[in-house]
Amino acid sequence: MKNPKNHNLTMDEWDEVKHPRPHRNDFDAVVEEAISRRGFMGGVLAFGSGAAAMGTGLLSSTSAEAQAAGRFAFSPIGIATDFDIHVPEGYSWAPLARWGDPLVSQGDGAFDPETGHDAEAAQHVFGENTDGMWLFQVGGRELIAVNHEYANQETNLPQSEGVPQSLDDVLMFQRIQGVTIMEVAPQDGDTYGIVVDSPFNRRIDHNTETRFSGPAAGHELLQTAADPEGMKPLGTMNNCGSGPTPWGTYLTCEENFNGYFGSTDEAFELPEDYERYGIGHEGWGYDYHKFDERFDVSKNPAEPRRQGWVTEIDPADPESTPVKRTALGRFKHENAACTLAPDGRVVVYMGDDERGEHLYKFVSNGVYVPGGPAGDLLDDGQLYAAKFNWDGTGEWLALTPEATGMDAAEILIFTRDAATAVGATTMDRPEWVQVNPIAAEGYCALTNNSRRGATNDDGTPRTNAGGVPMTVNPPNPRELNNFGQIVRWYPANDDHGTDAFRWDLYVMAGNPKAAEGAYKGSANVTEGNMFNSPDGMMFDTSGLLWIQTDGDDSNEDEFAGQGNNQMLAGDPASGEIHRFLTGPNGCEVTGLCWSADRRTMFVGIQHPGGSWPDGTGLPRSSVISVWRDDGGLVG
Ligand code: FEO
Ligand code: CA
Ligand code: CA
Repeated sequence: MKNPKNHNLTMDEWDEVKHPRPHRNDFDAVVEEAISRRGFMGGVLAFGSGAAAMGTGLLSSTSAEAQAAGRFAFSPIGIATDFDIHVPEGYSWAPLARWGDPLVSQGDGAFDPETGHDAEAAQHVFGENTDGMWLFQVGGRELIAVNHEYANQETNLPQSEGVPQSLDDVLMFQRIQGVTIMEVAPQDGDTYGIVVDSPFNRRIDHNTETRFSGPAAGHELLQTAADPEGMKPLGTMNNCGSGPTPWGTYLTCEENFNGYFGSTDEAFELPEDYERYGIGHEGWGYDYHKFDERFDVSKNPAEPRRQGWVTEIDPADPESTPVKRTALGRFKHENAACTLAPDGRVVVYMGDDERGEHLYKFVSNGVYVPGGPAGDLLDDGQLYAAKFNWDGTGEWLALTPEATGMDAAEILIFTRDAATAVGATTMDRPEWVQVNPIAAEGYCALTNNSRRGATNDDGTPRTNAGGVPMTVNPPNPRELNNFGQIVRWYPANDDHGTDAFRWDLYVMAGNPKAAEGAYKGSANVTEGNMFNSPDGMMFDTSGLLWIQTDGDDSNEDEFAGQGNNQMLAGDPASGEIHRFLTGPNGCEVTGLCWSADRRTMFVGIQHPGGSWPDGTGLPRSSVISVWRDDGGLVG
């Protein structure tokens, strides 16, 4: 995600502008400190000796490519710095759905590639900034549920340099984000496209009526004048990653919801709980609060607490009401990885993407019977936060009233505080979590953390939003971590429902050519496959881990040789990682799913630069289809 107001700044950079960090620590000292942990890193990294873990790069680019045959059904590609998509030889791609493409016939023609569209048209078109998605098979049809995370303000309102001038402008923003449900099918025997006017096509946006369920539903902290019962929040917003459930529904995850709220009264005293979630007087430039009172916290202070949840959508029923599952906690949800414990309990792993926040899991009390309905399984269970130890063990800490000193509803509404109370490990921005379908393993992409180990001007350590110092810790061992890593855990007894686990680092991203010490990356990072800032992840049915990046694509300095954001495939067993796709410059690659026959892969391209993919007018965030020219399986 980039800053919505200024397309040239990433969210990290925007945050730095608002919360400037001190000068970097002395780099030599950082390296010395990192290398002093060599023994640790050799012990917990999955590959190679300690020296290799420091990133000497055991595989040359050429030998890596030679080894790619076999487990990987493609020849790895090099980096790119252009405004195009690149896939391996023998593969092709085409756009499936672009920002502004019509979902219903009356939307056709309303989209202008120079000016976008208006509030009326925004209801009937594919939204902007595609993110998490999944394909569902319903009665022989293929439906994709896909998130639209945020709005690039300048792209949507080029006439006013991105600044909303009216309620209509705000309404357009609200409608172009959220979630799309769309039927897709091969068009005239050719590549996939949207089935325009399908009865399943649906937009869920910032104003759609939803309902709360679970232990916090109806709590007074969630009540507003418009909804005194605290049961019917409007809208799901900043929908980032996602995940399917075993019963065929879609979990969409509300991430940076705080940016939509602001106060028209500068003197309004913000409620105490706002600080941890970053809710302030100004918002992030959407200016909803200036035109839509619901987003003015001086008038509706409970409204921001009605966002930041995991919302369940039934794509098979266009009339269904999305459900905010409060038992899964409230934080800046990245995605939701749903799996089953051996006894049938439902386990949902979730990351909270902010510097120094935490990794969570929910375990249901009831059990799921495959093929049956879910009932209220996601409303009744226990929420945990992860604690990682230096010796390669870890535990899930139950967020209970006894452990946190908070009541049951407060734990769910102010989950970050509950995790802090039990001493959960501060992480380098937990992005997507995935569960290996063929082995008892969980994975979380820790995208980066420029403040890890940094100090304030007065020498005190930088902290997370809860005041906990972000000193280096076991799964986050690098100070000033601009590259990121993927942590992996192995639940005890191969049971995702248990409290104990072992862990290691699947990969530490880095630059074996242009960086030093630990910043070179782990042994499975080479000059031929290097990348930074892992973010999206998805397993295919064969157990390959697909890794998508949202990082620095300057191709300069410590990022030299890494090129545009990309998608790679990793073998959990061997550790090999190979580059499969590169996106257009400026973009983030995020979101991945497959057609029912697994012969087409759908990949999300968010906030592309230039004027991709049309070559004229505004850049259009899109989902693309990728297939093998020989018609083979792609996942
Ligand atoms: Fe929306 Fe953390 O990515
Ligand atoms: Ca992400
Ligand atoms: Ca990201």
